[in-house]
Amino acid sequence: MTGWIAIVVSGLLLAGLLYWLLVMTEGVFLGRRVVVWLYDITAHQYDGIKEFDDAAERFFVIRPLRHHLRHLPNPLILDVATGTGRLPHYLLNEPDFHGRVVGLEPSPKMMGFAAGKLASFGWRSMLVRQTAVPLPFAAGAFDAVSCLESLEFFPSAAAALAEMARVLKPGGILMVTRRRGRDGRAFLKRYRNVSQFEQMLRDLGFSAVNTQPWQIDYDQVFGRKVTKVEK
Ligand SMILES: C[S@@+](CC[C@H](N)C(=O)[O-])C[C@H]1O[C@@H](n2cnc3c(N)ncnc32)[C@H](O)[C@@H]1O
Repeated sequence: MTGWIAIVVSGLLLAGLLYWLLVMTEGVFLGRRVVVWLYDITAHQYDGIKEFDDAAERFFVIRPLRHHLRHLPNPLILDVATGTGRLPHYLLNEPDFHGRVVGLEPSPKMMGFAAGKLASFGWRSMLVRQTAVPLPFAAGAFDAVSCLESLEFFPSAAAALAEMARVLKPGGILMVTRRRGRDGRAFLKRYRNVSQFEQMLRDLGFSAVNTQPWQIDYDQVFGRKVTKVEK
């Protein structure tokens, strides 16, 4: 009898461990390749699971980004970990948006879905298959860099943010997300509270750092790359 109890308890512990490693933290403790592989094998379900609401995406994602870019007629934006092309899709579908968007994504399957959504925008959208570090772009190339719901899955959020800071123009806008709440704490030492996250951005050379609650498990965090004069 005790033998059976030991087997059941071990099975439950193993199931819990696998759930935490593969579902809650999406493979991040198993390495970058596992994270990307998990997105590859689940890419066909991604949009169905997320059920993006068009009005909410326009109001909570596109509107604040465009507000920061309102003085630029043709901004160039980089979306790191673009997934199935969420941000480029909504941005380029805005009738009065005349800029261009580069989407960077390491999972070929996720990128395939993004390519399908963005095909009609021709030269105004470009997809690059690559991880966030290093970014294959020159310093100061972009007016804005975004990274939604992804930083917590990178080997180092700080290293990725440093790359985003490098490719931004001085005065350029950063829009990223911070995993929060119980889901965020499942990432253990990788978790940063609001003040730790904001301090990381300031240490990387961002000013006007500002956190806005967004979804149950994510905040939006904005920053502006400091210009030489401000330094
Ligand atoms: C939750 S999805 C978010 C996708 C998109 N930003 C969105 O909001 O729908 C996370 C994305 O991060 C990508 N990713 C994982 N590791 C990465 C890395 N090291 N560098 C860049 N992207 C990565 C995954 O392939 C996946 O597409």
